[in-house]
Formats: sequence, C-alpha cells, structure tokens
Amino acid sequence: MRRMPTDRPATRETMRAPKGMLDVLPPESARWTELVARFATRAQRFGYGLIVTPIVEHYEVFQRVGETTDVVRKEMYEFVDRGGRHLALRPEGTAPVVRAYAQHRPTTPWKVWYLAPNFRAEQPQAGRYRQHWQVGAEVIGLDDPDVDVEIIELVHGFFRDLGLRDVRLLINSMGDTESRDRYRAVLLDYWRSHASLLGNDMERAETNPLRILDSKRPDWHDMLERAPQLGEYLNDASAAHFARVQEGLQLLGVEFEIAPRLVRGFDYYTSTVFEFASGALDAAQNAIGGGGRYDRLAEEMGAPAAPSIGFGIGIERVLLACDAEGVLPAPPARVDAFVIDLVATHEALLLLAELRESGLAADRSYGSRTMKRQMAAADRSGAGWAVIIGEKELARGLVSIRDLASGEQVEVPRLEVAAWLRMRKDERTS
Ligand code: HAM
Repeated sequence: MRRMPTDRPATRETMRAPKGMLDVLPPESARWTELVARFATRAQRFGYGLIVTPIVEHYEVFQRVGETTDVVRKEMYEFVDRGGRHLALRPEGTAPVVRAYAQHRPTTPWKVWYLAPNFRAEQPQAGRYRQHWQVGAEVIGLDDPDVDVEIIELVHGFFRDLGLRDVRLLINSMGDTESRDRYRAVLLDYWRSHASLLGNDMERAETNPLRILDSKRPDWHDMLERAPQLGEYLNDASAAHFARVQEGLQLLGVEFEIAPRLVRGFDYYTSTVFEFASGALDAAQNAIGGGGRYDRLAEEMGAPAAPSIGFGIGIERVLLACDAEGVLPAPPARVDAFVIDLVATHEALLLLAELRESGLAADRSYGSRTMKRQMAAADRSGAGWAVIIGEKELARGLVSIRDLASGEQVEVPRLEVAAWLRMRKDERTS
C-alpha cells in the first residue's frame, strides 16, 4: 500500500468526484427516493428487516468472496488505518451480512434487506462505476427451495413494479459441493486440453476452473460453447432442489430461462444462481440484479452452518434501464404553497412553519425581494398556490391566496390558511 501524498494544494481535478463515482443531485435523486421506497415497502411485505453495516470491514471478511475473482484480487479498495488494521471498502453486500450474522448470532431464519454503496476499482463506463449502489436482501438459515422462489419473486415483482418490461431472468444451479467437485475435475481436464488458447489464464483455470466460464472474450466463444455443462453433473439432491425452484417459479408465472454457463462472479455461490438481464442495456452491463445461494459461507466465516440465499440490484443500472424503457421519470419537485412576503416581518416565518407542520409542502424566497421576483420564484417552485402576505390585508387579519394555474385570487383569514390549503389540496388529489 502506498503512502498518502500530503499537503498538496487542491486543484480543479481533486475538487471533482473521484473517477468512476457519481454525484446524485435533484431532480434525479427523487428517482432514487422513489426506487428505494418501493424496494423497502416490498422487502417489508416479504418479511425482511433493514440491516446497516459499516462501509469498511476487515479485509479478511471479503477473502471468501473470491480470492480468484477480480473484484477481490484487483479491484478492492484496501488500506491500513491509523491503528495498523488492514481494512477494505465493501466491494459487495453479502459478506458483511454474513459477518454480522457470525458476530450477533440472530435467530434464524434471518431475513434482512439493505441499501448500500459498493466499491470496485473497475474501468468506468456507462453502467459500470467504481462506486455503485445496491438494494439487496439476504435470507440466512434456510435451504428450502421455496425460499429461492421467494427471493426471485421479490426481485421480479420489484422490476415489474418499476414498470420495466424488457427484462429476462436467467437461472442455473451450481449444485452442492459433491456435484461441483465432480464437475470441476471434468472442466479442468477440458481447460487443459485448450491450454494454448487459455494462455496465461490457464493458471486461473487451475485454481478455479468455474471462473473461466463467465468470460465474455470473443476468441473463447467456441471453446466456452462446447465446455461441459454443470447441469449434467448435479447429483440427485441438487437436481431435485433445482427442479423444485423451477416448479415454484412456473406456478407463480415468473418466466425464466436456464443459462447453463451462468456461474456468477463470486466463489461463495452454491446451488441456485440467477441474474436479471435488461434487453435495453448494452450486453456487457446488462445485469441489473443477480444473486444466488451461498450455503457454506457462514460456516467458512466461522459462524454456525447456515444455508443462505440473497441478491443485489444495481440502482444506477436499473435507472439506466428505466431511462431506456421510458419508465420511472423523475417526479417534478413541487411544493403545495409558496409564501410571498411583502411585509418583511416575522409573519412569513410563522406562516411557513404552520403550513409545514400541518403536512403541506411549502417554500418561500428570502431577502425582501420585489413582488415580481417572488412571484417568479413561486412559478419556478411548481407550487399550486401563492400565499401573499400584504400589509393592508394583514391589518384586517387576512392574506391573499392565488391559484397559480388559473390566476384566481381570494382572501382567506390568516388563521385559516393551513386548513384552507389542505382542503383545496385534498379536493385536487381526490
Ligand atoms: P453482483 O452481481 O456483483 O452481486 O452485483 C449485483 C448488481 O450490482 C449487478 O447485477 C449490477 O446491477 C450491480 N453492479 C455490480 N457491479 C457494478 C458496477 N461496477 N457498476 C454499477 N453497477 C454494478 C453481488 O454483489 C452479490 N453480493 C449479490 C448477492 C447477494 N448474492 C447473494 N446475495
């Protein structure tokens, strides 16, 4: 790890967000609020509670994610803190949840959902960032195939709820340890017979033969097409589990395709794996969500054995897919009322507090601006009504309320403004 350069003056470059990391500003951020709220509602409906874990973990937490995967080997943001601890920024959300399970030993089944940023030092491009956000969920301590169906159904319904239609669900089974060991041996023989084409990657093939399968290299296409398939090596128990998952999905009307080469990017996967691919995005970044079982991870991380399953959904990619399909537009930022202050006393402050406490969205402009400039600000705010505090009206205990769409204006007792606006708002929305 390199030492930090110190005391360098700030430059235009250093005052920008780091490469591959995005700021999310209004009005775009309103789509995030909407997406997260819908996900949270759905996860709660399925019986999941929110979990929040630190953004940094001890480096070792991520070792089991995949010593042979790029995400851990090459892309992890790791550092030594002031106390000499080797820490890493979270590259993905499953290992921290299992670490929390190992630490707190909650009663199982433990069903949790999360919203969290993840860090991977990848080559940034549209849909691939160095910091990306995921909403996801994990179920710790159940091996019932119905749980696999439930988890997939949760994601499937979420995408439908957002309005996405051009989405394919790909599923596969990685089998249990016995099935996978058998398959690994056959696959390794196959890679060895193609050693010249694999070149330097032969070393990776030797340590983790499955890792080669998810490569997108065009010159390997034929070799990958002809590679032995995992499905043929599943033992009876693994095949039965996978068959139950498929039956469940069919019963619920969730369409899927079996993708025999889908092995997913991390070492912890076992049994059912799945990915949702958006047809509206470029093939290299079309995965908008994915997950699977990791039945041995808890045990490998020192916790009581607990078969588990989960998924992560990339928020930025989902929003790109929404753009491409023309769904989930940013809702216009809008307040109900905009207060125009022509008296420059504390009246605007008081009235605004009253409106907001009564549940209305309200705003104002500041700094004793002219009526014209304040009205222009009211128009920009998208408010339904301008509440005008004028000297003469106020002396009579009244304020004027102007409907900004029709231009119609009425006088309302100052003390009844909030109730009047609430009534009109209810009439409009009902
Ligand atoms: P993952 O497939 O690496 O799985 O990431 C989940 C989703 O995050 C992807 O489908 C994609 O939408 C998004 N994503 C991943 N990398 C990037 C990136 N560099 N830029 C933008 N979006 C990205 C996991 O992380 C597992 N923890 C999922 C899981 C949970 N498996 C079991 N439980």
